[in-house]
Amino acid sequence: AVSPTGCPVSPEAAAFDPFDAPYQLDPAEALRWSRDQEPVFYSPKLGYWVVSRYDDIKAIFRDNLTFSPSIALEKITPPSDEALEVLKRYDYGMNRTLVNEDEPAHMARRRVLLDAFTPEALEAHAPMVRRLVREKLDAIIDRGRADLVAEMFWEVPLTVALHFLGVPEEDMEQLRRFSAAHTLNTWGRPSPEQQVEVAEAVGKFWQYSGRVLRKMQAQPRSEGWMYDMIEKNREMPEVVTDSYLHSMMMAIIVAAHETTALATTNAFRQLLSRPAVWDELCANPELIPSAAEESLRHSGSMVSWRRITTCDVEVGGVTIPEGGRILMVMASGNHDPRHFENPDDFDIYRDNAVDHLTFGYGSHQCMGKNLGRMEMRIFLEEFIRRLPHLELEEQAFTFLPNTSLRGPEALWVRWDPTLNPERRDP
Ligand code: HEM
Repeated sequence: AVSPTGCPVSPEAAAFDPFDAPYQLDPAEALRWSRDQEPVFYSPKLGYWVVSRYDDIKAIFRDNLTFSPSIALEKITPPSDEALEVLKRYDYGMNRTLVNEDEPAHMARRRVLLDAFTPEALEAHAPMVRRLVREKLDAIIDRGRADLVAEMFWEVPLTVALHFLGVPEEDMEQLRRFSAAHTLNTWGRPSPEQQVEVAEAVGKFWQYSGRVLRKMQAQPRSEGWMYDMIEKNREMPEVVTDSYLHSMMMAIIVAAHETTALATTNAFRQLLSRPAVWDELCANPELIPSAAEESLRHSGSMVSWRRITTCDVEVGGVTIPEGGRILMVMASGNHDPRHFENPDDFDIYRDNAVDHLTFGYGSHQCMGKNLGRMEMRIFLEEFIRRLPHLELEEQAFTFLPNTSLRGPEALWVRWDPTLNPERRDP
């Protein structure tokens, strides 16, 4: 195989397929060879240039003019004609949001939509997050066994996301199914039959988003980030455009909940699979923020992200031609020993964990990162206080097959209800 520049492709690069088991199970491990030998390579199976080292990924994130984010939400698997037909029937028109918008439109938009993310604005959501987590814990605390994903790790972040956005907290099960379809549509490799199914769900999600948006537009202004956007759309329609509003309504529901749900699941999995670390955290809850950060580094929920080059450019000694599609594997950068000492260790005392790339970097860096962090922190605080003797069950983990959003579909844990601190010392 050869790359678009005519250079021959190494056997490892030719074999690389992010939909194969190694990457799906552990993307950082699957790219160890690349970090060591060939940190920038062309993948003929994917049609992308894959970048695996920390410094190279950061340099790409830093320069969003040379490396445009416009393809960030494009379907990574080209859609079939049948799937396109289905989407057309639903008048599907997903377009630019924030994350895939070029300059200068992006910064102009981002700047006028920042108010919802001040530390005070975010802190105002904390009591609600805690109440939701406590209610979910009350429901299972005497049970002794649970799948935490099914019981709360998806539903709490979705409720928080809808509340943050001001979107009515309805149709939760349906939104969860829509989100999975959006993930497969954007980052998956659905089979031809699945493509049609996924397109049906994505089309319905698009229509749903439009209905909710129109309903919110018809109402007086209320609390929530979507209401900020609706207001800015009225005040400055050339900055916060109509197309942006509808596309964002759909994209943000996914961005604000799946990412956090999976990050929380990954954190509990990593911590509980190291009982000594979990016990240490229970004894020292002030380490919770560091533990959450180390988990985002070691096992983040966004493992890769995309850019497209606007001119010929060198990355890590390799020339990528104009129009080159790039897959930055942040999970790999987060395990790069050139930046993180003993990167495969899970170390809650690591002093540079916060340098991880899981939230991206530079002018598009995740706006919701502190909301996500707060939710993870509150989940950990409540579990550590009420179920410190929690244990991970033996289980085989499964993942929704895709290149970017990563976390187990279920997380089975057990505990002895007679040991609950609240029972022993009510
Ligand atoms: C952008 C990850 C939670 C809203 C991003 C990007 C990543 C990411 C990788 C792209 C960054 C780049 O291109 O440099 C995550 C992870 C989360 C999380 C891992 C949870 C652990 C959230 C939440 C919200 C949110 C809770 C909403 C309230 C956004 C927005 C952008 C973004 C609006 C686009 C920013 C821009 O392009 O200017 N996120 N996210 N995210 N995220 Fe998050």
